[in-house]
Amino acid sequence: MAEHLHISNGSKEDKYRALLPQVKSLMANETIIMANLANLAAALNETFRFLWVGFYLVKGEELILSTFQGPIACTRIRKGSGVCGTAWERAETIIVPDVNKFPGHIACNFASRSEIVVPLFGKDKQVWGVLDIDSEQLNTFDAIDQQYLEEMCNMLHK
Ligand code: SME
Repeated sequence: MAEHLHISNGSKEDKYRALLPQVKSLMANETIIMANLANLAAALNETFRFLWVGFYLVKGEELILSTFQGPIACTRIRKGSGVCGTAWERAETIIVPDVNKFPGHIACNFASRSEIVVPLFGKDKQVWGVLDIDSEQLNTFDAIDQQYLEEMCNMLHK
C-alpha cells in the first residue's frame, strides 16, 4: 500500500488520472467497506481540497451520514430530498452548478456553492449509498469529475 499520495500538479484530469491507480491499489487488499470509504474520502480531499467530501449510506428510507472529510453535516436525508436523496431516487449522478438553483437543496454548510452526488451501486444494481462532494466555488463539477468519480465509486464493492 502506498504510504502517501502522489498528487499531480497538472490539470484536474491529470489529478484524477494520477489518483485512480492509487485508489485502486489502496482498495485492492481491503475488504472492509468502511475502510475503503474512509480512504477514498481522504484521497479526494487531499487531492482537491474540496469543502466537503463524504458518504451517506442507505438505511431504510433514509441516507445516514457516514465517513467524511470536512465540516460537520446533516446526519439524515430522506429519499427524494436534497441533491443526495434525489440522486438516490433517480439512481444517477447529479451535478449542481449552483446549489441555490437546485430546488430542495439541503444546505448543511452555507459556504457550499456547487455540488456533485454519485450513487453507489451494489451487485444487485440497487443504490446502497452516495458520494457527495461540495465546493465553495460555483460550477466546480463537470463530465470529467463525473467520469472519474463514477469509476472510483464502482471500485467500492459492498
Ligand atoms: N447538500 C446535500 C446535503 C448533504 S451536505 O452537502 C454534506 C443535499 O442537498 O443533499
